[in-house]
Amino acid sequence: MALKDVLLDELRDMYSAENQLVKALPKLAKGAESPKLKQLFSAHLEETKGQVERLKKVFAELDEKPTGQHCNGMEGVIEEGKDALEKDEEGASFDAGLIGAALRTEHYEIAGYEACISMATSLGLTKVVKLLNANLKEELAAAKKIMSAGGPILKQSAKEPEAPIKPKSGKEKYSAKKSK
Ligand SMILES: [Fe+2]
Ligand SMILES: [Fe+2]
Repeated sequence: MALKDVLLDELRDMYSAENQLVKALPKLAKGAESPKLKQLFSAHLEETKGQVERLKKVFAELDEKPTGQHCNGMEGVIEEGKDALEKDEEGASFDAGLIGAALRTEHYEIAGYEACISMATSLGLTKVVKLLNANLKEELAAAKKIMSAGGPILKQSAKEPEAPIKPKSGKEKYSAKKSK
């Protein structure tokens, strides 16, 4: 198998992963209790749609079709995100689970793009590298934003009681807190 074929496989995997995320990110945005996290997930959804478009350009550049592969890895990571959404937690502790899930998706993407970029670089596919780098940059920035928004949420979560004293009390206390 030539390196170009390996790259095409990886790229189709990324295309599938990004499309799965276009469906999953609205669920994270809807589920998040922190307005800041909600906004982050929604903003990254828009970026993700743009990333799908960039990948289409990559395939056009290579004169190939983007479809034909299902990214099982991302399916698993998203599945774990669904578990986090179904957790019987409230307030910041609930969001802490979403932060963990979201970070996994970003770092999975980062690994994928880094692999594609090094292959495309080896093949001298300058335009492809440029397009993939634009996606990678957004993933790195997204992971960073989740980390910085996540800091105060995790601190808050550490203060929350293990079992809520009154139902909803955690939620009320949490939403009363100002987000940066
Ligand atoms: Fe992405
Ligand atoms: Fe992403």
